[in-house]
Amino acid sequence: MTETLDIKITKTPNSRLEQTDFNDLPFGRTFSDHMFVADYEDGEWKNFQIVPYGDISVSPAISALHYGQSFFEGLKAYKHADGTVSVFRPDKNAKRFNKSAERLCMPTLPEDIFIQSIAAVVDIDREWVPGKANHSMYIRPFMFATDRYLGVAPSTTYKYMVLLGPTGPYFSKTLRVKIETHYTRSAEGGMGYAKSSGNYGGAMYPAKKATEEGFDQLIWTDAKNHEYIEEMGAANVVFVLDGKVITPSTRDTILDGVTRDTVLTLAREWGYPVEERRVSVAEIIEGAKNGKLEDAFGAGTAATIAPVGSISLNGEEYFLSDPKTREFSQRVLRELDAIKYGNAPDTHGWNYIV
Ligand code: PLP
Ligand code: COI
Repeated sequence: MTETLDIKITKTPNSRLEQTDFNDLPFGRTFSDHMFVADYEDGEWKNFQIVPYGDISVSPAISALHYGQSFFEGLKAYKHADGTVSVFRPDKNAKRFNKSAERLCMPTLPEDIFIQSIAAVVDIDREWVPGKANHSMYIRPFMFATDRYLGVAPSTTYKYMVLLGPTGPYFSKTLRVKIETHYTRSAEGGMGYAKSSGNYGGAMYPAKKATEEGFDQLIWTDAKNHEYIEEMGAANVVFVLDGKVITPSTRDTILDGVTRDTVLTLAREWGYPVEERRVSVAEIIEGAKNGKLEDAFGAGTAATIAPVGSISLNGEEYFLSDPKTREFSQRVLRELDAIKYGNAPDTHGWNYIV
């Protein structure tokens, strides 16, 4: 039975809404007026608050800063034509949040607290949810360790927070991607399946090198032999090869994406053969060469459905068809948008109405 969360609300006297340019919303730069904060102390979650968005003060000795006890989630709220605001599949993020927490020896958060905290702060800042096509409110829940202690051990205190920011698409163009065959994002037994901050910090150096070579994203491969495709830096990867929808099966090296699950659910309902399995670099390159690779795209909350225009391996670049002509990803994009923005029936119960 869900109890209503007792949240202390302090509203800002100085809303920034009027000064915000909703025609210029690059990902991750604009924050709404309020944020959610809670503390974990003495073995329980407490001090549930919504406060004006702003800087916070922490000890310089917190283990989040020194040892990376920190992780996050990412989901989105959408505005429908009738003004309804919905959050997409927050139950999935609540479950993944706790998988990350467990992997990092951090406290789990009851799923209903996760969902209610998000709903409460989105409700207060609902005017911040953009009404424009391809725009939404990005929701960033996160948790970090707050003990003032430099020993390498799990903290006993934590903060959970939720930030909100109106945003346009994360990627503004068709992606030129490189298959990474030297660096590794995560290895078996590691924490690739967790949304731990360290996974992203560790990926920055190889990603920067790829950007310098003119690529937009890396496709990570298995740590052992770099023979199998895993995922992209900020999205899962889905292919249509010879009429089949193919994506790497999830394992401890891959983030189990909500968008990935949504895409596969729709694909199965539409009658496409769907294969979740090991996907070799060789078969994807072969498909790119012989034209059987009909579609390739990144699938993620921030990334949405991000078409891949070319795939490079060891200095060879293979070009795919014009994304506008691709049957599967275009259909997914249309249907997903229709559901999220309330223009198609939500038969799966994916929209959590705020
Ligand atoms: N993989 C990584 C590394 C990500 O950061 C993301 C984004 O959250 C995804 C995959 C896609 O996951 P989701 O669809 O749940 O956003
Ligand atoms: C998301 O899609 O929510 C992500 O976490 C991607 C982010 C790293 C930009």
